[in-house]
Amino acid sequence: MKNKFYVTTPIYYINDIPHIGHTCTTVVADVLARLHKQTGEDVFFLTGTDEHGQKVADAAKEAGFEDVQKYCDDIAPRFEKAWRDLNIGFDHFIRTTDPRHEQVVKDFLQKIYDKGDIYKDKYEGLYCIGCEKFLTESDLVDGHCPIHPSEKTVQQSEENWFFKLSKYIPQIIKLIENDGTNYINPVGKRAEVLAKLRAGVKDISISRANVSWGIPLPWDKSQTTYVWFDALINYYSATQFVEAKKDFWPANLHILGKEILWFHAVIWQAMLLAAGLEVPLKTFTHSFYMIDGQKMSKSLGNVISPSQLIDAFGVDGARYLVATSFPRDNDTDVGIGKYKDKYNADLANNLGNLVSRLAKMGEGLKIDTSKIEYDDQVKEVIDDLRFNEAVLLIFEKWINPVNLKLNEQEPWKKDFEDKTRQELLRWAGGELKKAAYHLMPFIPETSQTIIDLFTGVIKLPKEGLFKRVS
Ligand code: MSP
Repeated sequence: MKNKFYVTTPIYYINDIPHIGHTCTTVVADVLARLHKQTGEDVFFLTGTDEHGQKVADAAKEAGFEDVQKYCDDIAPRFEKAWRDLNIGFDHFIRTTDPRHEQVVKDFLQKIYDKGDIYKDKYEGLYCIGCEKFLTESDLVDGHCPIHPSEKTVQQSEENWFFKLSKYIPQIIKLIENDGTNYINPVGKRAEVLAKLRAGVKDISISRANVSWGIPLPWDKSQTTYVWFDALINYYSATQFVEAKKDFWPANLHILGKEILWFHAVIWQAMLLAAGLEVPLKTFTHSFYMIDGQKMSKSLGNVISPSQLIDAFGVDGARYLVATSFPRDNDTDVGIGKYKDKYNADLANNLGNLVSRLAKMGEGLKIDTSKIEYDDQVKEVIDDLRFNEAVLLIFEKWINPVNLKLNEQEPWKKDFEDKTRQELLRWAGGELKKAAYHLMPFIPETSQTIIDLFTGVIKLPKEGLFKRVS
């Protein structure tokens, strides 16, 4: 029996088109999915789009669509295409307007309702449409939502259905404190969540009376499901209707940005506990890509799109740059200029150049064909999402020593027939093949090309692997 590995990205709101903020979470999930497939596991990689709620309905209107579904049908494929263009190997692309998902949401809600965990009450307070989130006064910074400071928060007052979130808080605290699997990662985030939990948590409204673009509650059709309640269930619903993935729940890993940690670390857990389902094994929360110190967002107009990166650096170049600049622990400033330097240094001048030189010098030489096993140390670092470190390690193990030895022994000064020259080039080709094998999750196509060049006999690449970008 193969081990199962189920990894997800957040499902993206389609009020926006994909930018490299979304790209980063998606590339991270893809690197992990590819690593786990490569090392023999049975993988389910899920991504998709979050299509209900006021924010999407407003965006549709603004774009001139009367029919919100038509707007969704127009935008969702752009996300899917953006990911395909980046060679993202997702197994299913989920859309929350898929009737199969909607049915699972209804069943989920009905189950919790029947159990007595949902009741009617009056909601009064602030709402940030940008976050699709109810806010308290203490959440505000200078009177604004900290994530969407340029947008207005609106005062809501309506009769809603509430979920007994507070009932599950002791259980969640216990899960976090005693849980050997450490479901909140990185570890630093655990204390943050615990402090908030201990400060007291109120029940949450899970329906909206004045938002028609959503899934109607099964027992009260005048209200629609709060968009987050609907969206979180995607992780579970896919395992109910994607044929080949029906036994994949619970997820091994949810990857998400830090602004949505609470939803994943607390609300989602409580929903699952209420429904009597298993909770996910791990969540990993990352920070943000910034541009000149500001978060990238549509409202600020400072976005870099994935296609811009592909145009400049090719598919694998784009993937490599996004993965190695992944803001794992801290917000990280990115920009095309910085990317260009990194691309030229690592890929064009180092790896690309080395492969071409070696292939030219060793063309026709027979090469070692023994099977390569994935290195445990590299795997561990990738599994801990320390991608930059993983890539450095790969360079240190299998690329830098080749550069060093070639420079020392200067095979280009020796005759083709020279035995030590041939031995050196064979060894070097084998090492580059190992490098490529380990870089596969990051740059799959180029890695395959390199592996092919150094399999059987050494062959010449058709054209330069990574052209310098000026
Ligand atoms: N629809 C919700 C998620 C529901 S999941 C059940 C949502 N969508 S979103 O379109 O706003 O995307 C949020 C995710 O995109 C973040 O959690 C993060 O993963 C990614 N990013 C968006 N902007 C980002 C940066 N500037 N930097 C890095 N990642 C960011 O929230």
